[in-house]
Amino acid sequence: MSASKSVEQNILPNDLFVGKTIFVTGGGSGINLGIARTFASLGASIGICGRSQERLDTAATGLRELGAKVSATSADVRVPEHLQAAMNASRDTIGDIDVLVCGAAGNFLVQGENLSFNGFKTVIDIDLVGSFNASRIAFEQLKRTRGSIIFITAPMAHLPHAYQAHVGPAKAGVEMLMKNLALEWGPYGIRSNSIIPGFIEDTEGMRRISSEANTGNFIQNIPLRRMGMTHEIGQAAAFLCSPLAAYITGTSLWIDGGQALSGSGFFNSNSAAFLASSTRT
Ligand code: COA
Ligand code: NAP
Repeated sequence: MSASKSVEQNILPNDLFVGKTIFVTGGGSGINLGIARTFASLGASIGICGRSQERLDTAATGLRELGAKVSATSADVRVPEHLQAAMNASRDTIGDIDVLVCGAAGNFLVQGENLSFNGFKTVIDIDLVGSFNASRIAFEQLKRTRGSIIFITAPMAHLPHAYQAHVGPAKAGVEMLMKNLALEWGPYGIRSNSIIPGFIEDTEGMRRISSEANTGNFIQNIPLRRMGMTHEIGQAAAFLCSPLAAYITGTSLWIDGGQALSGSGFFNSNSAAFLASSTRT
């Protein structure tokens, strides 16, 4: 059985999150929806928010088919009042939040010299300010449940990537927010960790940075020689929020097939070609 196939089924017990509530910002699509679906299949009730109610409704239908109770209320993470209303609605229908996933984000490729002031601010506002807003608003619920937060960051939080002068600082800020909250909220029993996905197939994030035709170049620089899948991020999130990870807080978990090890990808591929063509003296 291949590594990718082996995680499609639940390895964790099907009832692991029965009686628990997971709230996912940006949970209507992509990786975040993959996380929501994993928790739903492990028995959790699911709250999701995002800007498009239509997208949330479609996601909610799929989550209900997995057996979950769902609260799906549109909210822009940049607007605390919207987020508060969505989390109140979730609390009133499916209970206090046990796990908060801060996944809402925005990205586009642009040269630093062409990035407008508002373009920079917009990504900082969605990714970093939005993650703070969600954590701050969920705090009272998380305190009652002694819950857990997962921040979804990105490789550019740690490694500079060209044309990502907005996303790099935004996600780096989220990484530090994660650590600050682990420090401050640990005494309440609240754990705070992040997941750093690598290149995850069939996602909006990938579509915004590469064409299908270029996929081979990405895969060539991933040691495991394939992209990740949304359910693989979901399984890791479930682990981090389970009793198996009860003593893990303040940690960033790379789920990238080893891609970060290829940070100097061009150097690596160039050196490989050079080595192959050289004769040892
Ligand atoms: N290149 C350069 N600048 C861009 C851009 C692009 N592709 N897309 C948007 N911007 C700029 C806009 O020009 C604007 O700046 P300006 O006022 O100086 O012109 C600023 O960013 C805000 O754009 P706007 O469309 O008003 O923002 P929004 O709040 O409606 O949407 C985005 C936020 C821009 C991040 C949008 O792409 C989005 O909604 N993304 C969510 C989905 C996503 O990115 N998924 C992948 C997650 S990794
Ligand atoms: P996606 O499907 O576009 O997910 C982003 C979600 O956030 C969408 O559902 C979007 O819904 C929501 N959103 C955006 N702006 C919002 C706002 N202001 N308020 C509330 N919700 C908002 O893209 P994805 O690729 O799966 O990315 C998911 C997460 O993984 C992001 O945090 C991203 O940075 C991270 N990531 C992705 C990859 C990858 O390979 N795809 C790699 C590393 C990290 P609406 O538009 O309806 O609001």
